[in-house]
Amino acid sequence: MALECDLIIRNAEIIDGTGAARFAGDVAVSGERILAVGALPEAHATREVDAGGLVLAPGFIDAHTHDDRAILGDGRLALPKISQGVTTVVTGNCGISVAPVRAKGKALPPLNLLGEDYESCFGTFREYADLLAREKPPINAMALIGHMSLRVEAMAGDVDRPATAEETAHMRRRLEEALDEGASGMSTGLWYAPNIKAPTEEVVEVAAPLHARNALYVTHMRDEANDVLRSIDETMRIGRAVDSPVVISHHKCSMPENHGRSRETLPALEAAARLQSVAFDVYPYAASSTILQPNRLHPAVKVQITWSTPHPEARGRMLDEIAAEWGVDRVTAAERLLPAGAISFMMDEADVRRILAHPMAMIGSDGLPHDAMPHPRLWSTFARVLGHYARDEKLFTLEDAVHKMTGRTAAVFGMTDRGEIRPGAFADLVLFDADKVREVGTFADPAHPAEGIVETWVNGASAYTPAGGIASDHHGRLLVRGRAD
Ligand code: ZN
Ligand code: CU
Repeated sequence: MALECDLIIRNAEIIDGTGAARFAGDVAVSGERILAVGALPEAHATREVDAGGLVLAPGFIDAHTHDDRAILGDGRLALPKISQGVTTVVTGNCGISVAPVRAKGKALPPLNLLGEDYESCFGTFREYADLLAREKPPINAMALIGHMSLRVEAMAGDVDRPATAEETAHMRRRLEEALDEGASGMSTGLWYAPNIKAPTEEVVEVAAPLHARNALYVTHMRDEANDVLRSIDETMRIGRAVDSPVVISHHKCSMPENHGRSRETLPALEAAARLQSVAFDVYPYAASSTILQPNRLHPAVKVQITWSTPHPEARGRMLDEIAAEWGVDRVTAAERLLPAGAISFMMDEADVRRILAHPMAMIGSDGLPHDAMPHPRLWSTFARVLGHYARDEKLFTLEDAVHKMTGRTAAVFGMTDRGEIRPGAFADLVLFDADKVREVGTFADPAHPAEGIVETWVNGASAYTPAGGIASDHHGRLLVRGRAD
């Protein structure tokens, strides 16, 4: 029987995203979806691609991003992701989202990771969703609503305290509205200075609408250092109180005092997972990155500047060098650089490996697309997991690596018919050379596309090749948890 379709990728090593072993075969695509998988010699397509034995996998899903704005406009800021084979990003993490925010003036840190002022924000989630529907992003996105974004509006910028009952009710209403308009969960960034004052009860009260909409609670926990176990407890308590699945963001054990403690946190998470729904994401580096916070510098942790408004020339340089040059201590130097961003080399490689290799782990870049000299995780996370950790270090199989960035992530976030290669699934695909895939970006020179990615497809349409860059017509869309459209 002759099969007519739009695209056939023949002669591929298919890694289907479920964690199952690869198999040789062809994939036929009709419209936005996969029509057939297997040996399809009698099929005909408008476009036939000979994969020549390269690996075909589901498009990668970046479980943790700050790409709210990066996917808008001409999509150029999505290049770090799509060039690694990423076809879907989860936005609005760490308590910060571009919608819904009604506020004026300069954005309070860490909200300034998304843009300098509130003018780049959206008063309702619907406005943001409508723009995505109209202009189409180059890749798909699932959106979370940031607790801090809600706080800034409800508390009129005076966020360095617990919210009043009235303010909490305002936040809850705004979250509820955003969930009804297509957001898929709420995120918190309780570690950040303004939100550290938000008590557990405030979060529980604001997050109340999650349950009825089957939405997620996602958190940059209050502490990832000495109190990491207590923070896991708080997170689980919030998840139970609002009766929603929990995702812990960029799981790590911060600062030298806590190196090795993934031996405690991972068993704690396994125990929690027996009682409630919990998952976590992780990026494949022993260095973190966020806004520069002078009061949080650790004497034994090296810091590299990623951007600075008063001192743009500081980007890429080490804080200690700058302080020495200025003849001041590093706290004073850090204060002079503000507002600024930084990379902190504060984790233990053994913890990073243990967390990455854990079966509960999903890969999330936490890349910061607006930084002048970003942490290399922005351009390199997925290539580094596939090349460095899976192929070279043999930390896990390539099939496991792909599962952590496709099938597992789609299941946790409720991305229906995504993250797997099978008939009926959306044709989000990436073709790559398993022998060549590797990260090119480094801490000294981060902004380079990965090597070894041959082509990326989004909803059935070719979206990226190394020679052609991002395709001019975009086919991404907003995904809603649990919905198949
Ligand atoms: Zn975070
Ligand atoms: Cu983040």
